[in-house]
Amino acid sequence: MAESYPNVVLESSGPFSAHRFFSVTLRSQKAQKGGLSVHVDEAIRSRKSVRRFLSTSVPISVVHHILRVAARAPSGNNVRPWKVYVVAGEARQRLCEALIDAATHEPDRHRPEYAYYPTTWVEPCLERRRRCGFGLYASLGIARDDAAREHQMLRNYTFFKAPVGLLVTLDRRLNTGSFINLGIFIQNILVAACAQGLHTCAQEAFAWYHKVARAQMPISDHKILACSIALGHEDLSAPENALITERAEVEAFASFHGF
Ligand SMILES: Cc1cc2nc3c(=O)[nH]c(=O)nc-3n(C[C@H](O)[C@H](O)[C@H](O)COP(=O)(O)O)c2cc1C
Repeated sequence: MAESYPNVVLESSGPFSAHRFFSVTLRSQKAQKGGLSVHVDEAIRSRKSVRRFLSTSVPISVVHHILRVAARAPSGNNVRPWKVYVVAGEARQRLCEALIDAATHEPDRHRPEYAYYPTTWVEPCLERRRRCGFGLYASLGIARDDAAREHQMLRNYTFFKAPVGLLVTLDRRLNTGSFINLGIFIQNILVAACAQGLHTCAQEAFAWYHKVARAQMPISDHKILACSIALGHEDLSAPENALITERAEVEAFASFHGF
């Protein structure tokens, strides 16, 4: 099974052992020599938000590998403030049903625990947000149809059909800086998934229904549900997955001094 997933070593995790670490590293290098490795630029560039997945399952060993790689993320003082709850199968199904029920019947009763978006938008973010929305809805053939937009929003709570969902949480007793650490960890997951030929969609939509998630999962009170990540195989026939979002030229967001 692991043959089609580059560098995945089918070993269970356990306490750190130098012998095991180096044997895993050597095997990874062998896999790279065999042409299985993905250049990091390529993994980063191939990442995009996928919003329709195939039902093809993802082996737990592959999810485990992605998380093990992602956990090499740096964090101030190496505090590693994240905890991830991975769902598949019946656990995923139960969670999705509860979320869809809440989002359909009682959306006003739910609020996220942290403000992901500003209450007042400023330029150029406002225009970028509009363009992002227009791009997604255009790819789906949705014009100014509120019901269709609502339907697309609800699709978040199916993980866009991905067979695996990751609920990413952060220890609330820490401070704002921990959001930086968490963001780096999240990006590592997204990129490590691409290196396995998989795709993802980060989803702040789950933060709204943290109470529902808590009722389904053993998420302790001192954890903030920051977002979820849908993980699976891209449905190449889905028009929304063909959307490649724009980026500004480097000169628009960086200035160079003293070169
Ligand atoms: C933390 C985070 C949360 C996001 N939440 C959602 C979400 O709830 N639903 C969704 O469809 N896309 C979500 N996105 C995807 C963004 O819309 C997407 O990353 C952005 O439009 C850029 O497109 P790209 O990922 O294809 O490069 C989220 C992205 C991030 C990083």
